[in-house]
Amino acid sequence: MQSGTYLRNGPGLWRIGNYDFRHLFDGYATLVKLHFENGRLIAGHRQIESEAYKAAKKNKKLCYREFSEVPKSDNFLAYVGELANLFSGASLTDNANTGVVKLGDGRVVCLTETQKGSIVIDPNTLDTLGKFEYSDTLGGLIHSAHPIVTDKEFLTLLPDLVNPGYLVVSMKPGTNERKVIGRVNCRHGPAPGWVHSFPVTEHYIVVPEMPLRYCAQNLLKAEPTPLYKFEWHPDSKAFVHVMCKASGKIVASVEVPLFVTFHFINAYEEVDEDGRVTAIMADCCEHNADTTILEKLKLQNLRSFDGKDVLPDARVGRFIIPLNGSPYGKLEAAVDPNEHGRGIDMCSINPKFLGLKYRYAYACGAQRPCNFPNALTKIDLVNKRAKNWYEEGAVPSEPFFVPRPGATEEDDGVVISMISQKNGGGYALLLDGSTFKEIARAKFPYGLPYGLHGCWVPKH
Ligand SMILES: [Fe+2]
Repeated sequence: MQSGTYLRNGPGLWRIGNYDFRHLFDGYATLVKLHFENGRLIAGHRQIESEAYKAAKKNKKLCYREFSEVPKSDNFLAYVGELANLFSGASLTDNANTGVVKLGDGRVVCLTETQKGSIVIDPNTLDTLGKFEYSDTLGGLIHSAHPIVTDKEFLTLLPDLVNPGYLVVSMKPGTNERKVIGRVNCRHGPAPGWVHSFPVTEHYIVVPEMPLRYCAQNLLKAEPTPLYKFEWHPDSKAFVHVMCKASGKIVASVEVPLFVTFHFINAYEEVDEDGRVTAIMADCCEHNADTTILEKLKLQNLRSFDGKDVLPDARVGRFIIPLNGSPYGKLEAAVDPNEHGRGIDMCSINPKFLGLKYRYAYACGAQRPCNFPNALTKIDLVNKRAKNWYEEGAVPSEPFFVPRPGATEEDDGVVISMISQKNGGGYALLLDGSTFKEIARAKFPYGLPYGLHGCWVPKH
């Protein structure tokens, strides 16, 4: 295996003073590194020193608005002050607990849904180096937690909560300035749909408009609502918009069946014999238009598995978006969901196939009964089959694919995942990207919390 470091970010600390958080996504960011060199593995972990984390540690209480938790106001006047802070974004968290990306210029940035939660870290020491300040004047409070990052650019979506829509922006390596490629106006609904992630093809940016929409009122409530900062608006329908990357023009805006997804897997262009693009195919981990998965991720539910099968079904949802002016797109399962236990989320692909026609996706799947994705799955989108890895009592995190240097086959590489064990322990697991069989495992000296998304930083 080549030398380098796998970094993984995620919520890892759910207790402040004597107060316990209630939702998985609220935890303060814990960064884990697996450094591979000369066949050896060196692991480490640290908390990200966000303002929200430092304030909570110092005051022994919650001081900023997290995913579901809100600081308690001492009195009404303080609450009024807090409303003002909310509109300015001052009370929102900068707890960068969702993902970590390596920019084209080498800087490594941890991210979450709030723009202020963009934090630069040192991939070797895991030190928090400081806030990533966007130098443009685009403003806004939130962005997609999953930008598309390559050596050449950083693309993301900035939802506009005032005039429902999205700004599609790009940032070049070596700069902190996002530039607008174009804007998508929402077709319906009181607010833009949640855009945790989005996919791109070679020439296009795909902007989903999910009926699970942001909700300013829910942002202001002192107690969590069932859908947190969001609201389900089936009447507002669901859409997918396609923007040309070069011109910023919208080339398709189609109505699609209702859907719920957090993670897009990939997208690509379908071409005819003359090389004309006829459709965009966009794949995602789709929860059968059912929002209950958000509720299932409450810590109380995750910690109380009694053998009953309670994980809602999910599938590889494939959007087919025609570019012939048709007003409708399709959404179907790309693979029989039983192939992966009707569970799928936390996906990765060979990064060389980003935006291109591809065959393989890696994700967390399910071995039922379960209350959480408890297996790893390799999906073959051509043969429509899956290979699965499962170990009783194990909870694996996102399987991350790293291609072998010089590889010519799409699945020639390794898949890295961190496993939490039933007994509180854990280990790093390496699977062969092709056979999906175990190559190696390295036991951690102590258990680590479950984590979300990672990135690979090759050694130079
Ligand atoms: Fe995510």
